[in-house]
Amino acid sequence: MPHIQQLESHVADLIAAGEVVERPASVVKELVENAVDAGSSAVVVEIRRGGMGMIRVTDNGCGIAPEELPTAFLRHATSKLRTEEDLGKIGTLGFRGEALAAISAVSRVDILTRQTGTTEGAALHLEGGVPGAVEPAGAPEGTTITVRDLFYNTPARLKFMKKDAAEGAAVFAVVQRVALSHPEVSVKFLRDGKQELLTPGDGQLQSAVYAVLGRELALGFTRVKGSGEEMSVTGFVSKPACCRASRNWQFFFVNGRQVKSRLMLAALEEAYQNQKMVGRFPACVLHLEAKLSAVDVNVHPAKTEVKFGSERAVFSAVYHAVRAALEGDRTRPAAVLEPARPASVPARPPGAVPPACPPCPCPAGADRLRTPREQGNYLSEAGGTCPHSCGRKCG
Ligand SMILES: Nc1ncnc2c1ncn2[C@@H]1O[C@H](COP(=O)(O)OP(=O)(O)OP(=O)(O)O)[C@@H](O)[C@H]1O
Ligand SMILES: [Mg+2]
Repeated sequence: MPHIQQLESHVADLIAAGEVVERPASVVKELVENAVDAGSSAVVVEIRRGGMGMIRVTDNGCGIAPEELPTAFLRHATSKLRTEEDLGKIGTLGFRGEALAAISAVSRVDILTRQTGTTEGAALHLEGGVPGAVEPAGAPEGTTITVRDLFYNTPARLKFMKKDAAEGAAVFAVVQRVALSHPEVSVKFLRDGKQELLTPGDGQLQSAVYAVLGRELALGFTRVKGSGEEMSVTGFVSKPACCRASRNWQFFFVNGRQVKSRLMLAALEEAYQNQKMVGRFPACVLHLEAKLSAVDVNVHPAKTEVKFGSERAVFSAVYHAVRAALEGDRTRPAAVLEPARPASVPARPPGAVPPACPPCPCPAGADRLRTPREQGNYLSEAGGTCPHSCGRKCG
């Protein structure tokens, strides 16, 4: 065995960078999160060649003081954390002071920034983590960071990049999640010069959902608003009849942070028990707000998972909020879209209210006859027949 010795610092930096910066999408995630933490109300993300050619994130946040600019690119340098106690109540998206160091270690970076309330901005160029001189520069309030030639000095990582289209799609997914997690921030995304997303940033989750997920998905949503032990759950979930063929449209956020949470997913799906067809999955945009001390965010290298102080409380809050939304939706016919009618069902005269019928008692129908299509076509029509084997007539 060769002798044990401590790695040179630039090799150690490259290894550390590998954990934070996996692909262009991880660079965009870190830069946009910094922009949100800086209090921005508008963020523009531009990429070229899927982010491998260029990534630029522009914000109108608080900016960085010229004398602190080189420090921002050092490892473990942060303005968001000071003491051990602070680690127990993190309210910002970033806290490790690693992202800018990691990104600059594996690319060429230009930063242009001006602090709010100051008259002169500053610019800095870094190459493989090595900073040049800080130059005075004219700049709008806020910060623009441009990242070029990602992984130019780590050929092993470069080799594993997918086609530009796939990397670009991963970047777009990150931007979409940021837009859904912070409706108060207007998010614009340009891919190879073409605008692909613009959210209004009006603070309304509904507006962000429309802009990001589109009208069709948004129309199939019902609103969620609930609370549990010192936490609240808000957002949107699919009406049972509008569930999707995959889980691709499930977005969970905890205190404004996008997370993958098996616990929240389990609570969501449990709430749909006997409500949706097998093989269909609810879409959702669910925000959980909890006390900062009830959530440990320091458990995952990319900060995409969290640990809850009380998993039971989180499960219960999500489950009951979603369940209440689904039950509320059933008693509110105005919220249900008029279903397409098959030719065999006679059209109801405009304005005529169908006679109310009890749910079909047949076991096959117990959970399925709640969909608007089935209610509209069978059980709420006098003379309608249960579509299952029982042959029950209604009315
Ligand atoms: N867009 C920005 N606007 C204002 N300040 C910024 C911006 N980006 C970075 N900074 C400053 O630079 C510091 C270092 O940023 P960096 O992303 O490396 O660390 P962090 O956000 O503190 O933690 P993490 O590594 O978890 O992201 C931040 O703490 C912040 O003070
Ligand atoms: Mg950061």
